[in-house]
Amino acid sequence: MQYGYFDDNAREYVITRPDTPYPWINYLGCEDFFGLFSNTSGGYCFYRDARMLRLTRYRYNNVPTDAGGRYFYLRDEGDVWTPSWMPMKSALDRYECRHGMGYSKISSARNGLAFSQVSFVPLHDTCEIHKVTLTNESNIDKRIDMFSFIEFCLWNANDDMTNFQRNFSIGEVEIDGSRIYHKTEYRERRNHYAVWAVNVPIEGFDTDRQTFLGLYNGFDHPQTVFDGEAKNSAASGWAPVGSHHIKARLAPGESKTFVFVLGYCENHEDQKWERPGVINKKPANTLLEKYDTPIAADKALAALNEYWKSLLGRFTVDAEDKKMARMAGIWNQYQCMVTFNMSRSASYFESGIGRGMGFRDSNQDLLGFVHLVPERARSRILDIAATQFPDGSAYHQYQPLTKRGNNEVGSGFNDDPLWLICGVAAYIKETGDYGILNEKVPFDNNETLADTLFVHLKRSFDYTVTHVGPHGLPLIGRADWNDCLNLNCFSKTPGESFQTTANYESGVAESVLIAAIFAFTGPDYAEICRRTNRAEEAEYAEKAIAKMIEAIDQHGWDGSWFLRAYDAYGKKIGSHECEDGKIFIESNGFAVMADIGINDGRARKALDSVKEHLESPYGIVLLQPAYKDYHLELGEVSSYPPGYKENAGIFCHNNPWVTIAETRLGRGNRAFETYAKICPAYREDDSDLRRLEPYVYAQMVAGKDAVRHGEAKNSWLTGTAAWTFVSISQYILGVRPVFDGLMIDPCIPSSMKGFTVTRHFRGADYHITVDNGAGVEKGIKSIMVDGNYLDGEALKKAVLPVFGDGKVHKIVVVMG
Ligand code: BGC
Ligand code: NOJ
Repeated sequence: MQYGYFDDNAREYVITRPDTPYPWINYLGCEDFFGLFSNTSGGYCFYRDARMLRLTRYRYNNVPTDAGGRYFYLRDEGDVWTPSWMPMKSALDRYECRHGMGYSKISSARNGLAFSQVSFVPLHDTCEIHKVTLTNESNIDKRIDMFSFIEFCLWNANDDMTNFQRNFSIGEVEIDGSRIYHKTEYRERRNHYAVWAVNVPIEGFDTDRQTFLGLYNGFDHPQTVFDGEAKNSAASGWAPVGSHHIKARLAPGESKTFVFVLGYCENHEDQKWERPGVINKKPANTLLEKYDTPIAADKALAALNEYWKSLLGRFTVDAEDKKMARMAGIWNQYQCMVTFNMSRSASYFESGIGRGMGFRDSNQDLLGFVHLVPERARSRILDIAATQFPDGSAYHQYQPLTKRGNNEVGSGFNDDPLWLICGVAAYIKETGDYGILNEKVPFDNNETLADTLFVHLKRSFDYTVTHVGPHGLPLIGRADWNDCLNLNCFSKTPGESFQTTANYESGVAESVLIAAIFAFTGPDYAEICRRTNRAEEAEYAEKAIAKMIEAIDQHGWDGSWFLRAYDAYGKKIGSHECEDGKIFIESNGFAVMADIGINDGRARKALDSVKEHLESPYGIVLLQPAYKDYHLELGEVSSYPPGYKENAGIFCHNNPWVTIAETRLGRGNRAFETYAKICPAYREDDSDLRRLEPYVYAQMVAGKDAVRHGEAKNSWLTGTAAWTFVSISQYILGVRPVFDGLMIDPCIPSSMKGFTVTRHFRGADYHITVDNGAGVEKGIKSIMVDGNYLDGEALKKAVLPVFGDGKVHKIVVVMG
């Protein structure tokens, strides 16, 4: 069944009924302040760090689901209802939620009263704006009581949910007219507070949860609202909340608009107080004055719209296949920006208190947003590199607030170093900025250990070269890309983390995947060396890569596919000899991406085996057969029930590796098939099974061994976003940044008649039309650049020059 539709012109997904099969959310904010916002106004917001500076409270795994958010309660002559459906599940005469680029709009109506809410985080400010409009659509006068409601989080989200002996006594607020200030811990070591304000005079307020709701009531039955009168409660300890009571008289046809702002404010240490016990409200005044009229709110929304329009204008797609066009042109890039902002911290599946920024994840995420915000990608690279250790290994995660490596997780994931090369190469191909290599970057966040970014890359490269096992393949360490392939872990204790528990480092367990990543990304390192006059280093690198490929040839091929690894006893993983886990997706996708076996037929064989053994209607599963039992020597991968997560789930992240690999073989039909199977827009009609948002990718879809085959989990924060964008934009549509310019190398289904891409690249706009009247899957007959045909070598290379002139250039490509 469908729960909505895409409105491509508005760049919105329109949800037409509130009871979606799971909360379908959006992200507000693109700089320092962020909100998660569901289609029923659920969610929460935070300043910079979802764990340390959370403004509003949210209970994960709650019953009912998604309870808590920014709620408005309406009381229309005794009829109490919630216009966002939740939390009262009110019967509505009309409902619609539009999730757009950085904003969401909910509109609904009941009994002649229409409600609309536009929610967003304005550019450059640290607040959420909720513009609310009430309209009397009936033909009688209406007297409405409206109550706003949010629940404050006592800042540290982890402590907030666990440390009750303290927290029940520390909550403090201040009320000043229509402004409710949350100032818990401000008296001591914090110099920041939150403010929840509305731009009109109020009838009353409440800031004590128990008074507002009633101790034994849920959000669906707030006593105060049913009583019709705010109690003017001042929170003292327990649970501080913010509720305004507004009375609105509406003549037939009349509308009234209110601007609610939920803001985060900071003061200098010595300017914390206005007078003893009273917080300095200057920063709040400045913020709230900016947004105190509906017109000001509209202007801020218009500026946000402009921001996204120009951002997404950097890569647009037009094609007959609207599903592909809207995903590649709008939603996939939008999701990439969300992963840029959130990494893996805050979603409806990531609590915001657990994981920080991943070294591996952040480098891969970069592949999906470097064309949108190259300058921000640059500083992201420098932040990531600063958490690398002098020997080239890396902290697996770092904290977004401090940008320091996370000691609790530590290091030892032996694929990590290579992703830095991958990220930097993508950045240089996009921008041509080799200068970044000369930036001084600390090792281990220690300035005295700083060296150039180039040295960081060298240490990355050398780390792999020097950490090989008995077959000359890279040692896996704690795990490689597959966090759950823990070959040195041997965990017997329940609750122990497979990723961080004692690691024996057998010196034996090896990863064919890391070898393939090395073979894929190593050549970029060598090329960077060549282009920066480091010929000797380039030669050394090329030799090391050739040696690694030899090791893969000799010890990484199983006859019909690539092996996955060797365990700590030297036994094969991902081999026909194994009982379970005979074949894995990762090493097959990546080895072919690295062009291994293209000339001798192994690549084709490997991908055919992937299709034969791992294919399902909803994508390619990670391995087969699923592990039935827990294997001490394999770790977490075998801990999941068959079909879920890394144990034979459809781990969407590595499906695009197969897509890209298929394009290396020129098999456009198959490449597109693998692309479309995991692409959410193609499963919109199937939402009852898939359950998650049809506009964003999910990390995992349950595999064919699972009870709930086809059901998705972990939407939004996944490397799938970046890699699918790479696969569709660079390898299927084939508009690919390379060191010399923009390569044109489409590999599409033979039924695709053509497409248009506009691409901003190094200071110019390329307007590219591809004609596939010939109905081929790959191959270019001609390329015309601004009216002139490329010929000879230039046509063979198919790399468009770097114009950098701020102009639009017309490119016409004919396939055949
Ligand atoms: C999950 C992985 C994830 C890891 C992070 C595991 O439980 O299965 O997908 O990468 O945790 O620590
Ligand atoms: C999710 C993690 O964020 C990512 O780093 C990892 O590669 C995959 N899970 C696979 O385990």
